[in-house]
Amino acid sequence: MKVTVVGAGNVGATCANVIAQKELCSEVVLLDIKEGISEGKSLDIWQAAPINLYDTRIKGSTNDYAATAGSSVVVITSGLPRKPGMSRDDLIATNAGIVRSVTENVMKHSPDAILIVVSNPLDVMTYCAYLTAGVDSRRVFGMAGILDTARYRAFLADALDVSPKDIQAVLMGGHGDTMVPLPRYTTVAGIQVTELIAAEKLEAIIQRTKAGGGELVNLMGTSAWYAPGAAAAQMVESVVRNQNRIFPCCAWLQGQYGLSDLYLGVPVKLGKNGIEEIIELKLDDSEAELVSNSAGHVREVMGVLDKMNAAGVQ
Ligand code: NAI
Ligand code: 2OP
Repeated sequence: MKVTVVGAGNVGATCANVIAQKELCSEVVLLDIKEGISEGKSLDIWQAAPINLYDTRIKGSTNDYAATAGSSVVVITSGLPRKPGMSRDDLIATNAGIVRSVTENVMKHSPDAILIVVSNPLDVMTYCAYLTAGVDSRRVFGMAGILDTARYRAFLADALDVSPKDIQAVLMGGHGDTMVPLPRYTTVAGIQVTELIAAEKLEAIIQRTKAGGGELVNLMGTSAWYAPGAAAAQMVESVVRNQNRIFPCCAWLQGQYGLSDLYLGVPVKLGKNGIEEIIELKLDDSEAELVSNSAGHVREVMGVLDKMNAAGVQ
């Protein structure tokens, strides 16, 4: 089985590395437009195989999509990351052109592939890939919720001084400041988190989670990659191993949660066909209002892409 990762930058190379280390497939192709970068990083990752003991072959390609032919899963990480002071939405014009052309090339060579989008602004770039690919929406979805819940879980693990392994959480909405961590669906070894932490501490963690991407941009001058790369690889794993794991992912809604024709973060079951099921939680009124507000924001940015498409902007 072959998995392609497009974009050999920080997130793409990290994702390819995790896929190889976990032996999720027999071959990973890492493709980038920058001459030599994907070949160099692939060689470096392959040279770690005798140390870390894995068999997955990894091959770099400078923009030659023939090398990606027959991929079962393609992870799209190509695009600009944000710099301090930028929002994810500021990236839309440049990254839409990149995601569109990458998706066209990918689909020419791997018409049956499942596409996992990582490029920002995430919800809208996933929509862009879906419009371009013209395939069933179960095969085109985005990575954000695993990362955002991982940040929330990591902050909770620190605050409670417990293992992050014991923290489970659901988070919904768009990948941005309007995301909706859900304390009612957050547990620590089965115990509802609200029984273990003071309300104001939990609220501070929720606010830090929402701004979690920006916190790292401010520290590093560019956006994060270790957790994002690992999160995308975890989605690949659930698909290629048909694990049917339940994760918050950016999925195309058709009536679920009373929302239609938009990509939004919701809990889904991920298996060999991609999104096997969208899980509908019984949200209370305040949770539903937060999700609806986040959906409204995503819809606005989707509208920007729709206008660009209508005007023929490439
Ligand atoms: P990066 O700048 O390190 O890497 C991006 C790579 O894409 C570069 O190597 C560049 O040459 C390549 N690229 C650009 N145009 C291309 C094209 N047409 N074809 C192939 N490759 C092309 O950026 P980084 O940090 O890896 O981030 C990548 C994207 O992922 C950004 O848009 C970033 O905002 C987004 N991101 C999304 C996250 C999420 O949770 N969904 C989390 C972290 C980053
Ligand atoms: C993140 O949340 C920037 O979307 C990226 O780290």
